[in-house]
Amino acid sequence: MSKQDDYKLLLSQIKAMVKDESDPVANMANVAALIQEAFHFWWTGFYRVIDNQLVLGPFQGPVACTRIGFGKGVCGTSWKERKTIVVEDVEQFPGHIACSSESKSEIVVPLFNGEEVIGVLDIDSEKLATFDETDKEWLEQIAEVVSAVINK
Ligand code: SME
Repeated sequence: MSKQDDYKLLLSQIKAMVKDESDPVANMANVAALIQEAFHFWWTGFYRVIDNQLVLGPFQGPVACTRIGFGKGVCGTSWKERKTIVVEDVEQFPGHIACSSESKSEIVVPLFNGEEVIGVLDIDSEKLATFDETDKEWLEQIAEVVSAVINK
């Protein structure tokens, strides 16, 4: 199966899973688990905007930093710039926050409530240049589904 096919299946699983559950934390936890089951990335999880900081939410993977400021690291930059950020080599990203020395590449996708960023989906890989336009497109669709559930 191609990456497209994997994402197509994943998105349908996610939609089916969140359909009958309204609790945001329960849904974020299972979405992180489904992404991991599909792709086995190094780290997959959510940060939520709380009191003007990104605060660690449900995730799969090793222990991570609990709070990230506006404009800090890849996550805080995605929040500030209100767009998906794909980093092929985290060592080349100024201000990257290294929660784990194993992490080599990363993608961060913002979650929205209207125009406002309410959190981010963050995925780390232990390999360089793991994420491309295909990941961006599909993870943005997944982020939209998760945002809709949180905003309900
Ligand atoms: N690397 C992220 C921090 C979060 S961890 O990767 C889980 C960043 O630079 O924002």
